[in-house]
Amino acid sequence: MKIYILFLIIILQSALVFGASRDPIKAKNGMVVSADPLATLAGLKILQQGGNAVDAAVAVGFALAVTYPQAGNIGGGGFMNIRFSDGKNYTIDYREKSPKSATQNMYLDSAGNYISDKSKFGYLAAGVPGAVAGMLLGLEKYGTLSREKVLQSAIQYAEKGFPLHYNLASYINSEKEIFEKFPSSKKIYIKKNGEPFLEDELFIQSDLAATLKRIVKNGRDGFYKGKTADLIVEEMNRGGGLISHDDLKSYKAKIRTAVTNKYRDYEIISLAPPSSGGTALIQLLNIVEGYNLKSMGHNSSQYIHRLTEAMRRVYSDRAEYLGDPDFVNVPLKWLLSKEYATERRNSIDTLRATPSQQIRNGVQPLQETTQTTHYSVVDKWGNCVSVTTTLNGGFGNYVVVDDAGFLLNNEMDDFSAKPGEPNMFGLIGGFANAIEPGKRMLSSMTPTIVLKNGKPFLVIGTPGGATIITTVFQIILNTTEFGMNIQEAIDAPRIHAQWLPDILLYEKNGLAVDVVNNLKSMGHTVVERKGTSGSAEGIMFDHKKGIIFGATDSRGYGAAVGY
Ligand code: GLY
Repeated sequence: MKIYILFLIIILQSALVFGASRDPIKAKNGMVVSADPLATLAGLKILQQGGNAVDAAVAVGFALAVTYPQAGNIGGGGFMNIRFSDGKNYTIDYREKSPKSATQNMYLDSAGNYISDKSKFGYLAAGVPGAVAGMLLGLEKYGTLSREKVLQSAIQYAEKGFPLHYNLASYINSEKEIFEKFPSSKKIYIKKNGEPFLEDELFIQSDLAATLKRIVKNGRDGFYKGKTADLIVEEMNRGGGLISHDDLKSYKAKIRTAVTNKYRDYEIISLAPPSSGGTALIQLLNIVEGYNLKSMGHNSSQYIHRLTEAMRRVYSDRAEYLGDPDFVNVPLKWLLSKEYATERRNSIDTLRATPSQQIRNGVQPLQETTQTTHYSVVDKWGNCVSVTTTLNGGFGNYVVVDDAGFLLNNEMDDFSAKPGEPNMFGLIGGFANAIEPGKRMLSSMTPTIVLKNGKPFLVIGTPGGATIITTVFQIILNTTEFGMNIQEAIDAPRIHAQWLPDILLYEKNGLAVDVVNNLKSMGHTVVERKGTSGSAEGIMFDHKKGIIFGATDSRGYGAAVGY
């Protein structure tokens, strides 16, 4: 740990405020918050060099691909939500797509049974990566600095190495058995002598550095054409994967219109489909807007009952209606309307749980990994960027592209491989999210910006699979209803429910025993979850005092740094 901290201090040099304390970090000019301290510092450096929030966000994104390989990526995808201080808002969708040769039944055996491992591990699990196209689109359209400047830290971390954080070293070691299966991954993630990686050990990724340099030199063509594309296709050919040169060449990131809505005095700006995140978040807020939540008290049984009832209804809609808008007609206007929320709220019995079976049929177990990652950035001009990106599961499909040094995603698991069957997050999908060639799989990522009186109030997001939406929802309520500061709002214990399975999950020690008992007596199946729920990275503003507050989640090992 000492070397890791020393490394941070050396790089920090000119940063005025840095911290992992439990108070929010305060700054006047700009703030970067991400799940990895070195990636946060890459963003800060760009802000201090005069770059804007988009430049810094792209620097963080590429740095995470090096220093946080469990979720940071160039082999995955994500969503970027940008709000400029002049009021203009842009969202970029760089979600992966299914390869053109993908078929609806590709994960079913001849008897029609779903072979779930096929969509989770190895070659067939990979969608066509969108991260490089999306980040470069953001940089070219809305950034101000060169690729060379913005990727400099990422290249340095890859080429010269960085000291492994204890958590990352342990995580890599714990997955040894799976990395063993793929020779290209073994080369990077298992040491030649078979010994475990140690905390503070220098982790050098020369192949990845070369790939990043090709991106600097040739832009998106440095990834989607030429040597990198050849290496991806060769890797696919070795393992029976589907991604072709044509899939790579034709991949395009898209600028989408954000979903927006009012919640009391606040304006919510979030991601439209193919993420379900913004839509579901707004639906949840619309439903609970009709209650006096504050009077119930934070995490009281009455409060949690209402949140849970809203969640089960919204996740049932998610399963039915949401998918890639380029392929299916998503009834967004109706889903986001206050009228529909009122109808949904009126169906809630304030004293009893509604069994999810009565809302729609289906039962399955919930398994969840949380390896997505979020970062939030604000610059001295007041521009805000909120980005969530993922490989899906931790280390994606576990396949490193040989000689290119990066992991591919297992995002195909976010499709409904067999409508009605759960994915790795226990989420059920309907036909709206069935596999089709060249389609984007439905996401839950919810990079969000909240305004108050037309000015930024909150920049927020989190990993957590299905829990992403409910985590962002509760953090927004913690700040807007209960007056928590950003650190308190992020650290507060969270619950999660998602229609099916019909259970209410809470974090260890997150609810008092009498609250759990009250909820049980109302008919809820209340379960203490294994592990924690999400790992949020947020920024909050006090415009009167001219202070920007940053906070990283105590559940992770990230950093908020401002100046
Ligand atoms: N793979 C997680 C998500 O996109 O929601």
